[in-house]
Amino acid sequence: MPFDPAFNAIFPRTTDIAAGRLNIAGLDAQELTREFGSPLYVFDETELREGMREYRQAFESRYPQTEVTYASKAYLSRFMANIANEEGIGLDIVSGGELAVALAAGFPASRCHFHGNNKEERELREAVDAGIGRIIVDNFHELEMLDVIARAAGKVQPIILRLSPGVDAHTHGKTTTGTLDNKFGLPISTGHAEQAVADAQRLAGVDLIGLHCHLGSPLFDLEPYDEANAVMLAFAADMVSKHNMNFREYSPGGGFASQYMRDRPAPDINLYAEEIISSFKRRCAENNLAPPHLFVEPGRSLVARAGVALYTVGARKHIEGLRTWVSIDGGMADNIRPALYDAKYEAVVVNRADEEPVETVTIAGKYCESGDMLIKDARLPATLPGDVIALPTSGAYNLTMASNYNMSLKPAVVAVKDGKARLIRRRETYEDLLATDVWEPA
Ligand SMILES: Cc1ncc(COP(=O)(O)O)c(C=O)c1O
Repeated sequence: MPFDPAFNAIFPRTTDIAAGRLNIAGLDAQELTREFGSPLYVFDETELREGMREYRQAFESRYPQTEVTYASKAYLSRFMANIANEEGIGLDIVSGGELAVALAAGFPASRCHFHGNNKEERELREAVDAGIGRIIVDNFHELEMLDVIARAAGKVQPIILRLSPGVDAHTHGKTTTGTLDNKFGLPISTGHAEQAVADAQRLAGVDLIGLHCHLGSPLFDLEPYDEANAVMLAFAADMVSKHNMNFREYSPGGGFASQYMRDRPAPDINLYAEEIISSFKRRCAENNLAPPHLFVEPGRSLVARAGVALYTVGARKHIEGLRTWVSIDGGMADNIRPALYDAKYEAVVVNRADEEPVETVTIAGKYCESGDMLIKDARLPATLPGDVIALPTSGAYNLTMASNYNMSLKPAVVAVKDGKARLIRRRETYEDLLATDVWEPA
């Protein structure tokens, strides 16, 4: 059977099949693992850049005062921060570590937004000192701490309040963030959000310029964005009249879906943009608000499709009438998502890309947890040890959640473009594992 064309939507757009073998950006995927080792993560630069341009076009054509800021928790490296910078995309960070990587790439701090529900004092100080563009304040503790830090630095830090609008976006329970019973944000319904606005208006070290919410991830339904806009923009109007708030910026967050499975397309980015912008304009008008500057924060949808994970097949176990396990040389240490929240993936054997599927197998990782399975019931051609399996849509939340479980070595990462591969992260070594172990015999 030829390569199922439905795969085209979930592999990078530079992917093709030549003589039965899968190529990304003109490079043979199995050869890449021979050159750089296995497992290997491949990021397609064309896919990344095109995706960013499509995002900017979708939003800016409908509302020019929109800025796309990339939620870098999905995947961050100096390579990635540099591409975002070159493509005119801002950066959301959630830790001192993410800020450090962004700065090391030369990303301007002024175009970074700092999120998170429990930022440490040290992280806030680092961000203020670096001249961070916005801090998205999540709670009273942070507000008070930031005021002291900014005043001590002789600065007035622009802030945006993260609110909890009480909107259920019907995502997986572990990735929903807009509901009342949630660790993120100041709830509107309890009066906490209004109290924070009033407090911020009194503090000399912060300049409250906007409001933010993020509903969860991924949202396949579009309606929750309008529900959130309705609640948030009515609240904004209330705060403008009651507390004289200077409402200049607004963000309904990210959460845009990516297509992981051949039979489960995600809404096109233009549908999200149309829904969000039209609802935003309508809700501003309803509340007599001059439309503020808008931020949207895609994470997953800017990187998922650009990343492909490559694994080499090892052991096989067949239990008649029950299951066939095909074990690979990676698993939950580089991709915790299936174990964490039942994430689903497709698989292609890259050196048999045009062969008929002949069996249903479970692709098992190599780590010591029976839940370490990347795909249950994958339809594959007959695989042999040494074959290479690609899992597309591996660009988001895989590597950034990777661990050294079982003292495993985090894989190498290469960026590919126009027939050339560039190492952007070397594979870890045993020396790396021991680099932070400071024990000495007594
Ligand atoms: C505040 C905020 N913005 C944006 C995102 C990005 O979400 P996604 O990757 O689903 O676009 C997240 C994800 O957790 C987030 O917490």
